[in-house]
Amino acid sequence: MRLLVFASGRGSNFEAIVEASKKNYLHSQVIGLLCDKECPAMEIAKKNSIPVSIIKPKDYQDKSIYIKTLLDVIKRYKPDYIILAGYMRILPAELIDEYPLKVINIHPSLLPQFPGKDSIAKAWDSGVKITGVTVHYVNDRMDAGPIIAQEFLKISDNMKKSSGLEKLENKIHKIEHRIYPASIKKLTEEPFDTLVVSKCLTGVNCRYDGGSKLSKRVKTFIKNFNGKIVDICPELEAGFDVPRPTTDIINGKAMMKGVGDITEKLENACNKIISRLSGSKKILAILKEKSPSCGVRSPKGIFASCVEKTLNVEKGSGVFIVSEEDL
Ligand code: GAR
Repeated sequence: MRLLVFASGRGSNFEAIVEASKKNYLHSQVIGLLCDKECPAMEIAKKNSIPVSIIKPKDYQDKSIYIKTLLDVIKRYKPDYIILAGYMRILPAELIDEYPLKVINIHPSLLPQFPGKDSIAKAWDSGVKITGVTVHYVNDRMDAGPIIAQEFLKISDNMKKSSGLEKLENKIHKIEHRIYPASIKKLTEEPFDTLVVSKCLTGVNCRYDGGSKLSKRVKTFIKNFNGKIVDICPELEAGFDVPRPTTDIINGKAMMKGVGDITEKLENACNKIISRLSGSKKILAILKEKSPSCGVRSPKGIFASCVEKTLNVEKGSGVFIVSEEDL
């Protein structure tokens, strides 16, 4: 895989990735470094004969020209993944539209706690007893997007007594330099073999009112996905057509207006869908945020509940469920 790294600072995470690639721990190549300013990470690139591009947003009065330049430069590298390693800038939505679920970040806290800058010091000052490191997919919001891996670190009372912040920073960076290459290895060498996606996100008019919720990023992700694609609509599978009365989850039950409890019908439909996934080893599910059938957030839909009961969710080899809203 071709990895394009973005950095703004010291570059110790960039270096950890380069070293992992040189040692053949990563069977991926670092094909370039992109910076938003002059920074020490560039020296590491030079030392390793890795091409560097600098795109400074402040050089562009017109934001659209900045974004176009950024996208043109990225395209020339033909990256499979974009790896943010201390790149302290929110990415434009246009970039994520082109590379949905292909941009990864590392952050020195347990997100969603302490996003933004100086997160280690923020955790330290807050007095939390546990902090850590998060690796996550990137969207166009700050330090947000589906979480890939987290490692916890206890802040001991001992650490609190003796010049602890520095110690904590060192410990956090040590974790980062281990889990970032490890997460990249897993992503690139054990790719998802199956994509499960809510049918309405792909543009099929299967919502209760006959509408769809076509998602540009889902569409792009599907176009580039190498594997089996299973688009699902538990309601259609259960025999309900469009239009149909609305359904709400009430006390864990799917209640259809004027019809009553349809939980069992939806569960049977969902289990049928799940049985079709039996040959799959690593499944990515992109589902709606809210929906009585395949929503992933409260109130959770029947599909996500059935998946959690039946399959090995988010253990790396089971199903990784993301909400379309988080892409
Ligand atoms: C790292 O701790 C990284 O997690 C953090 O910046 C540091 C960069 O260090 N990133 C963020 O805070 C992202 N919001 P490095 O330049 O030595 O890799």
